[in-house]
Amino acid sequence: MPSNMNGSSTYAAASPSIRRLEGKVAIITGGASGFGESTARLFIRHGAKVIIADVQDNLGNSLCEELGTPENISYVHCDVTKDTDVQDLINSAISKYGKLDIMYNNAGIPGNLDFSIVDSDNENFKNVFNVNVYGAFLGAKYAAKVMIPSQNGVILFTSSLASVTSGESPHSYTVSKHAIVGLTKNLCVELGRYGIRVNCISPCAVATPLLQKALGLDKSDVEGIICASANLKGVVPTSEDVAEAALFLCSDGARFVSGVNLVVDGGYSTTNQSYMNIIKSLMPSN
Ligand SMILES: NC(=O)c1ccc[n+]([C@@H]2O[C@H](COP(=O)([O-])OP(=O)(O)OC[C@H]3O[C@@H](n4cnc5c(N)ncnc54)[C@H](O)[C@@H]3O)[C@@H](O)[C@H]2O)c1
Repeated sequence: MPSNMNGSSTYAAASPSIRRLEGKVAIITGGASGFGESTARLFIRHGAKVIIADVQDNLGNSLCEELGTPENISYVHCDVTKDTDVQDLINSAISKYGKLDIMYNNAGIPGNLDFSIVDSDNENFKNVFNVNVYGAFLGAKYAAKVMIPSQNGVILFTSSLASVTSGESPHSYTVSKHAIVGLTKNLCVELGRYGIRVNCISPCAVATPLLQKALGLDKSDVEGIICASANLKGVVPTSEDVAEAALFLCSDGARFVSGVNLVVDGGYSTTNQSYMNIIKSLMPSN
């Protein structure tokens, strides 16, 4: 199960009777690190055959060696912004396993921390879109191509809390993650007739390598900030929490769930504490 306040993060071993992805074939982009890595670990425990797609070859290969045998987990170098890389990735699943059940388009970058529109770097904006939106679009496109004939499949994306809250992430990142929600919903409608489900997950800030690098802080400092600002106390959010959401959305337990943006944020986006914080600061007891 995901971690508690002490930060430990081990999954209970899934007995064969509750292996929720037995026999499913899954591709996870950005699978060498962070949410993708945790999802690969969890999917393997639940009986899936996993292909990790990433540009961090050493990390991806060593994760595969750790998690299983070439029969059930493998690494493919794939830059999600390259059409031919993504086509080759999908083809590798088909040639190895004869099918693709789950396409998790998770790879993403934060880009520069440009919070001012007038000072924003144009190339950074294009780069963020290229990876976060175009890359996810390509993954969905070529996955749909093989899923449509089989009338079956799950396409999942990683969006972000930035799709439901505003002003806390740079414009390029926020807009890219809104685009993912739009893509999720449009695809849900187009592909529903073929039995293909399409959803996305919107995690809150989690101290993955992405966020640590973006903020220039170590893991415990990032977790300190996240916990201090959290709505739900007593839990340090981890990449395993996102993996659990991915497991649910990709499993048959969610067989009638499509078009959903599943926010994993402990209720953070349902409230705005600014008003109450000011009121409390004016109370005589403070
Ligand atoms: N960490 C957070 O706080 C947070 C919150 C909400 C959403 N997200 C999103 O979650 C997703 C995963 O992020 P993470 O936090 O696990 O980060 P991470 O950096 O740990 O993992 C992202 C992975 O994507 C890979 N990647 C980047 N560009 C790629 C490309 N062009 N082709 C293939 N792979 C590429 C990286 O090599 C890396 O392994 C991203 O889409 C990110 O925007 C992160």
